[in-house]
Amino acid sequence: MAICRELAGEKWVLMTTAQTPTNIAVIKYWGKRDEALILPVNDSISVTLDPSHLCTITTVAVSPDFEKDRMWLNRKEISLSGARYQNCLREIRSRANDVEDEEKKIKIAKKDWEKLHVYIDSYNNFPTAAGLASSAAGFACLVFALANLMNVKEDHSQLSAIARQGSGSACRSLYGGFVKWNMGKEKDGSDSLAIQLADEKHWDDLVIIIAVVSSRQKETSSTSGMRETVETSLLLQHRAKEIVPKRVLAMEEAIKNRDFASFAQLTCNDSNQFHAVCLDTSPPIFYMNDTSHRIISLVEKWNRSEGEPQVAYTFDAGPNSVLIARNRKAAVSLLQRLLFYFPPNAETVLDSYVLGDKSILQDA
Ligand code: DP6
Repeated sequence: MAICRELAGEKWVLMTTAQTPTNIAVIKYWGKRDEALILPVNDSISVTLDPSHLCTITTVAVSPDFEKDRMWLNRKEISLSGARYQNCLREIRSRANDVEDEEKKIKIAKKDWEKLHVYIDSYNNFPTAAGLASSAAGFACLVFALANLMNVKEDHSQLSAIARQGSGSACRSLYGGFVKWNMGKEKDGSDSLAIQLADEKHWDDLVIIIAVVSSRQKETSSTSGMRETVETSLLLQHRAKEIVPKRVLAMEEAIKNRDFASFAQLTCNDSNQFHAVCLDTSPPIFYMNDTSHRIISLVEKWNRSEGEPQVAYTFDAGPNSVLIARNRKAAVSLLQRLLFYFPPNAETVLDSYVLGDKSILQDA
């Protein structure tokens, strides 16, 4: 193997670890205009969760002894043969540079990366069965870790366009804070990438609570669900062309001004329209269940009785709700309400994941 290293004859492994949080869309991505490149039909905006919660941790290693690329997810070996993994690996390898580890006395030349194989060990720090988005953090972390290992010089935005080819929503996890995925116009997807709208400190009053309504695996995956919607829903076309472009501008403004009333209104409206588009699909897709609907009613009634929104809700392709409280006081009050209406041991199981300051649970 044409690897220039001074420790000839001795085995070596070079490795690096990355940690990437998941993100929750407040303006949803739903529908692709190009399935292979994963190009969306509309822009989307998300908030990235705190990296110490709901994240993926991935270690990537390279050694001349590795005979093929291999990957373990949550300690079980999985196949890397799928197009999404292959596209990410190919794109990163093609951008690899010379790597030198002085301590280990290893030198890998740019051209050698094509011949070397990698091992990938990835796990989620939250129960995968909880039905919480994991592919977003997973592909973002994979791309970021490989880019570090191979000394890729591209910035986060350019890396996001690679992570996008693993899973659309993954492109938004390359940044913290509030992130926008520009759908882009180019056919090759080169301008379909993520940009940071505001960093994690910009609006740190917000408290995110995830109410796990059901830990069952969803019946329709996002990938197949959005394909069916693109093929059959007329409402999706209206949403993508007429609604989302205006909503994205309004959301950018709300985030910039930390205007919670507008933020909450736009977030809830967009979640509800996304689920309406799912219902408009033939056959219809039901992601929310009765408990999800009860949570919506609870929040809507409470927000109205207060005169101004205290909490925003949003639901992805499943029944679990992501609740964004305007501040700590609202978060404590929300938890008290959730515990009252959905007590532990009742028929409806509801575990709350409090992100950030866990003392909120004690206060509730
Ligand atoms: C409802 O990114 O999981 O969470 O690109 O096919 O991998 P693929 O889909 P995925 O879809 C996420 C859909 C969503 C909304 C969002 O995150 O914007």
